[in-house]
Amino acid sequence: LSADQASLVKSSWAQVKHSEVDILASIFTANPDIQARFPQFAGKDIDSIKDTGAFATHAGRIVGFFSEIVGLIGNQSNVPALYTLTEQLAASHKARGISTAQFGEFRASLVSYLSNHVSWGENVAAAWNVALDNFFFVLTSNY
Ligand code: HEM
Repeated sequence: LSADQASLVKSSWAQVKHSEVDILASIFTANPDIQARFPQFAGKDIDSIKDTGAFATHAGRIVGFFSEIVGLIGNQSNVPALYTLTEQLAASHKARGISTAQFGEFRASLVSYLSNHVSWGENVAAAWNVALDNFFFVLTSNY
């Protein structure tokens, strides 16, 4: 990830990082199999759960994880912390039986959300692609 790419990821993430509920709702809508893995939300209509405190809590954790990662990128001295966080995420999700294919679905839906909600273009798309490739490399190496 070049310095320019890191700053594109940061500036575009800043445009949506407070839309936690909207982001998680769009991921659940596009991937019922992901929603089905959340005991509290499985089988429920998105509109009926979207405005609940429980949904906001989960959305805050999941989207907040990305904010933490994005906050660390672009600085070589943060690489060990990036590895540790990503390895922990792999371990906690592997233990829940979440497949890497489901992470792939999550990625596709997140990119789709970004492309519709931030100033998007070839350079921003390429920057996210490299950042997510790096993240997924570490994640899947630990599966
Ligand atoms: C919990 C992040 C993808 C299912 C969590 C938590 C975080 C998180 C931070 C809370 C801490 C923990 O328990 O580890 C993420 C991120 C993802 C991702 C950043 C993508 C890059 C997925 C996918 C699934 C999933 C694809 C299901 C197919 C769950 C479940 C929980 C959870 C079931 C526990 C919820 C509960 O406490 O009831 N996730 N997650 N996650 N995640 Fe993920």
